[in-house]
Amino acid sequence: MISEAKLRANNYGKVVGIASRVSPISHGENNKEVEVEIPFENYLESRLIVDSFLGLSLLIPGTLILGRIKEVSREDLMSLSRVPALSVNEDPSSVATPLRIKVELISELIDENGVKEVVPPSSPIDPQSPVFLPNDDFVKTMLGLPIDGIEIGKVVEGYRRRENVEARISKEMLSHHILVIGTTGSGKTNLLKTIYSKSDIPLIAFDIQGDYIRTAIREGGRIVIPMSEDYAKMGIVPFLKLVFGRSSVDINIDRDLVNVDGQTLTFSSGEKKFKVTLMGFKFSKVAKDLADISTLFSPQGAYFFKLIIDNAIVDNISNWEKIEKEGKNNLHVNIHQYTLSNIERAVKIIQEMRILDLKIKLSDPGMTLQHKSIELDEPSYEELLKEKITVDLRWIMERGIDASVTAAYIIMNRIFKLKDNAYKQGKEILPYIMMFDEAHEYFPQSRKNEEGKESLERLINKIMRLGRVRGIGTILATHRPEDLNDLIITLTNSKVALRADNDALRRVDMEEYSKILEVSPPGFGIIRTFAYRAHNVFLRSDKFD
Ligand SMILES: Nc1ncnc2c1ncn2[C@@H]1O[C@H](COP(=O)(O)OP(=O)(O)O)[C@@H](O)[C@H]1O
Ligand SMILES: [Mg+2]
Repeated sequence: MISEAKLRANNYGKVVGIASRVSPISHGENNKEVEVEIPFENYLESRLIVDSFLGLSLLIPGTLILGRIKEVSREDLMSLSRVPALSVNEDPSSVATPLRIKVELISELIDENGVKEVVPPSSPIDPQSPVFLPNDDFVKTMLGLPIDGIEIGKVVEGYRRRENVEARISKEMLSHHILVIGTTGSGKTNLLKTIYSKSDIPLIAFDIQGDYIRTAIREGGRIVIPMSEDYAKMGIVPFLKLVFGRSSVDINIDRDLVNVDGQTLTFSSGEKKFKVTLMGFKFSKVAKDLADISTLFSPQGAYFFKLIIDNAIVDNISNWEKIEKEGKNNLHVNIHQYTLSNIERAVKIIQEMRILDLKIKLSDPGMTLQHKSIELDEPSYEELLKEKITVDLRWIMERGIDASVTAAYIIMNRIFKLKDNAYKQGKEILPYIMMFDEAHEYFPQSRKNEEGKESLERLINKIMRLGRVRGIGTILATHRPEDLNDLIITLTNSKVALRADNDALRRVDMEEYSKILEVSPPGFGIIRTFAYRAHNVFLRSDKFD
């Protein structure tokens, strides 16, 4: 029996010890720990440290178990026999005692008539069951790691990476959304950049800090820049000089610009080409979306704002008074004064953002176009959907967080509509990723005006709940999960916790790891996902730059 169990164990690793002969081995729903013993000579040869994986090959059930070392203890022979020191001389021979280990059981591999399945550990652990150092394949199987998907790092034991055991994000995980939490400097942006670069799925990264510009350039992606009036005035070339300058990238417009196509410029940098698309919103095109997504309108305000727009000729937002008058005249209903002032206030704030109906001076390196200017418009979103996009919100951010969030909402909404159309027409569902670093800025817990909460939550529901079957997966990162909207916490079914304090961990129900995560190095974290068999897996991300 024991030799059969040993043979089974040999398929999956190297036998180093046995389940305890001296203490009873019990485990159950609340207690997932058992004790094993490693003879002294094996202890000398193998590196057995806290958090390493161990395998157990059970005698009677014939199944295999993966566990993790929780505690190690060493005892002198005298301690075992309870004999106090007899002399002051040391006695090396009595150090040759076994290593005792407490193992936390993670999962069990059962074999029902040749069908193998990984389940939570439930079989009794027989004394003298062989204990082994599991090989990579066994660890992968028993943690139930996806074989396909975007590699974000390696599984770790202690703080050491297991180089051949990759932690991946599968398509299924993406469509159920991912939240990354961690303090500043814990490695959130690095993780998202890794995903950006490794993904073979098209994606859009909303970037309010300019963190992704270098990555976009390196990967040959497209940088989309929503403009504000101040920067549009500068003209294209001086503005782009500023963009590249502030992104610390070595792009020289005279040297690297290879093509200009309307608002899109193509540059060649190294082996790759990347594109920059300047964009602007026209009030006549976005007015209705603003009613749906802007958190500035009350529900009644949004409703009547839309009616006014439907009943007037809408052109420039600077003509709002005229538009409003015409709409109201054609409507033949009385709008409550309170609702009207909500609308007027919202329009005023939107006007003040200075992000609608912009013109930009065309300037090319040769300066032959410098006297012309064009109206800035939105790009073709169909085209964007096929690429990796970084939305550089730094410039519009100078007009306030509301301006950049509004721009992001419009873009998200447009992409959703395209995905929705494809879905309704029964077209093939293609996966798509939306990434939000500093996610609390886009999806806050509550806004100053509670009126906007409803439209914000409608938008979240749309993108995440309805988005799922339409192929949209989101990845969100924040150092302030406390400030993140509750819906986001609920709708993200995979969570990665990097270095974080207790409050942040409590928010994602991972407080039990606060001791480890309070002090962990950048990129070290725990992933909790329905998609892995083991619900909490320690990982270290790959360093990107
Ligand atoms: N897996 C890792 N290994 C080593 N260094 C890392 C790792 N992940 C991130 N870092 C480094 O830690 C620092 C902070 O990372 P960053 O992604 O900017 O953190 P955050 O976005 O959470 O503030 C950066 O210098 C980054 O290069
Ligand atoms: Mg960051």
